[in-house]
Amino acid sequence: MTPVVEFENVSFSYGDADVLQDVSFSLERGDKISIIGSNGAGKSTTLKISTGFLRPRSGTVRILGENPEKREIKRRFGYLPEDASPYRLLSVQENIQYSALLRGVDDIVSSTEKMIDLFDLAHLRLSKAYTLSRGNTQRLALAMVFVHNPEVLIMDEPLNYLDLNIQETVVRLVKKTEATVLLSTHVVSTASRLTDRIMILSSGRIKWAGTIDEIETDIGSGETIEARLGRMM
Ligand SMILES: Nc1ncnc2c1ncn2[C@@H]1O[C@H](COP(=O)(O)OP(=O)(O)O)[C@@H](O)[C@H]1O
Ligand SMILES: [Mg+2]
Repeated sequence: MTPVVEFENVSFSYGDADVLQDVSFSLERGDKISIIGSNGAGKSTTLKISTGFLRPRSGTVRILGENPEKREIKRRFGYLPEDASPYRLLSVQENIQYSALLRGVDDIVSSTEKMIDLFDLAHLRLSKAYTLSRGNTQRLALAMVFVHNPEVLIMDEPLNYLDLNIQETVVRLVKKTEATVLLSTHVVSTASRLTDRIMILSSGRIKWAGTIDEIETDIGSGETIEARLGRMM
């Protein structure tokens, strides 16, 4: 079967600065994986390359077997970028409706209502996006991604800025979805809350990949997962 997301020996640099070196991994349909790593490890860069927003210096990236830059592929995934910024002059409701419209959702009104309810945005329905706090902007950005129920979900630090109850909503949505999920986080506990599998990215290389259970069996007594992963990062 064709992998849903595939990186083959991907390298990337900003000018002279090497950011990713020889990164290879693949996700089969329904896989859910977190990329974890310290600040500056290259997580956001990896996600930008996976969405076709950046082009690798060498190596190959495919989503659903195709180049992610293709228009018809772009329609099939949802991307939550780092510091996502909805359309400033549109209201919360208009932003969600617009996202649903762009992605060809059939029942725009009811799908939007569902998201407003899920992300507890009813009191902000008519507020322009530029007036929102960082946390509420993140809620809106997530609503805009989930409203079109994408086949592939690519999310950069999805729990950043969120209240605990909304974090739980996102955890539930990610656990429940049939989509293939690739996300990034610098917080170890976020990875284990959202996905069963993790990849550790350190200085632009994949250092370790496996399941949370595998790390648990790998840990000697007296060391927490956080401490162990912290050393590996
Ligand atoms: N637009 C850019 N221009 C130059 N360097 C960048 C740019 N974006 C990120 N970097 C550098 O690339 C490295 C990886 O960044 P990033 O992928 O954002 O890491 P992470 O998401 O893991 O924190 C860092 O050293 C960062 O400073
Ligand atoms: Mg980042």
